[in-house]
Amino acid sequence: MTYAAITGWGKCMPSAVLSNADLSTFIDTNDEWITSRTGMKERRISHVSASEMAVVAAKRALACAGLDAKDVDLIVYGSCSNDEQVPNSASGVQAAIGATKAASMDVNTACTSFLYSLSIATAMIRTGVVKNAIVIGVEWISPFMDWDNRNVAVLFGDGCAAVVVQATEKQEGVLGEQLGCIADARQTLRVRGMGTLYTNRNVTSGVTEWDFDGQEIFKRAVQGMVQASQAVMQKCGVTPDDIDLVVPHQANMRIIDAVVSRSGIPMEKVMLTVERYGNMSAATVPVALAEALEEGRVKPGALVLMPAFGAGLTVCAHLVRWGDRVTPLAESDAALPPVTKSALQMVQDIRATKTAGREQSTKGLHEPVFIEQR
Ligand SMILES: CC(C)(COP(=O)(O)OP(=O)(O)OC[C@H]1O[C@@H](n2cnc3c(N)ncnc32)[C@H](O)[C@@H]1OP(=O)(O)O)[C@@H](O)C(=O)NCCC(=O)NCCS
Repeated sequence: MTYAAITGWGKCMPSAVLSNADLSTFIDTNDEWITSRTGMKERRISHVSASEMAVVAAKRALACAGLDAKDVDLIVYGSCSNDEQVPNSASGVQAAIGATKAASMDVNTACTSFLYSLSIATAMIRTGVVKNAIVIGVEWISPFMDWDNRNVAVLFGDGCAAVVVQATEKQEGVLGEQLGCIADARQTLRVRGMGTLYTNRNVTSGVTEWDFDGQEIFKRAVQGMVQASQAVMQKCGVTPDDIDLVVPHQANMRIIDAVVSRSGIPMEKVMLTVERYGNMSAATVPVALAEALEEGRVKPGALVLMPAFGAGLTVCAHLVRWGDRVTPLAESDAALPPVTKSALQMVQDIRATKTAGREQSTKGLHEPVFIEQR
């Protein structure tokens, strides 16, 4: 039987750091509130586009796997912050890394996009459609963040990581997954101002506002991730004691705490990045996975549980059996260009652009009729 092993990994984190203290210079918030309610201390702000981060991460993952870009059959780009609507971002990565024979697709399930993309690549490998795939989780949220809304502005950051997935006869890679969507809660997280629904509504490009019901998302996220984790463990015939490491989506330290304690897994088995990076949406799980490998927390043959949720509200949990190799075969020298501005300055520039855009837009125009209202 064919399986789909994860053989390469690479992250690409922008270097500019936005601290809680930086946030409190322009919104009514403070380090104590953010730390106690979310576990976050800082997040990164990217000076380059999502696809530029993705190219660096993909090159690092390829070097790690010892795979030539020309041998890649598939690129799946998981993100909700694409450079453009058309053409897709995966094709841009294909061109930049020279993966000339790779089929290239974008997948958007918000914060679960990396894991849904991993399911797609795994299924295509296991059914023999492709042999070698790159799966990317990337987000450049800062340009469409609602920076003057303290309910959301403190929670998110930018980042990227990629993995290489390859056909193998050994029982490795995704052993099983549970995917789902709690669509009756889709209105709890919505970015207004992006998408064709805003056509003819005088929304100036880039002026985005967020609908966000944090408490409802919190509740649904915990329920959804616990149920998905239990379902995938049951499907694969494993118990919480069999799990060696949990690499969860990192939207809030309290959510992670609730999910693992209700799943019967001790916190010592959980990989955490939330304090340093906040919620990077689709990039969160692969960055945490890459750092767990860098820190030697993934042992040969380890069983890794990866639960996540995102806007939609999409939920999922994946069980991955790691292979023998937990170190890179080689390292790429790919790197981002140097950053010339502070994270705070970049955020202030975005805020200034949005303010100018808002002044051009007529009030009350972010009101299209959404599908669930028809
Ligand atoms: C957003 C979240 C951190 C809020 O935590 P909470 O404990 O539910 O906080 P509440 O919403 O009850 O807000 C409590 C108070 O803090 C205030 N507050 C909100 N954001 C604040 C901030 N950044 N700084 C200071 N105060 C803030 C609120 O206005 C509220 O004040 P009030 O009591 O005077 O009305 C939490 O609900 C959460 O993590 N939700 C899910 C995260 C998520 O959805 N992530 C994205 C999806 S992947």
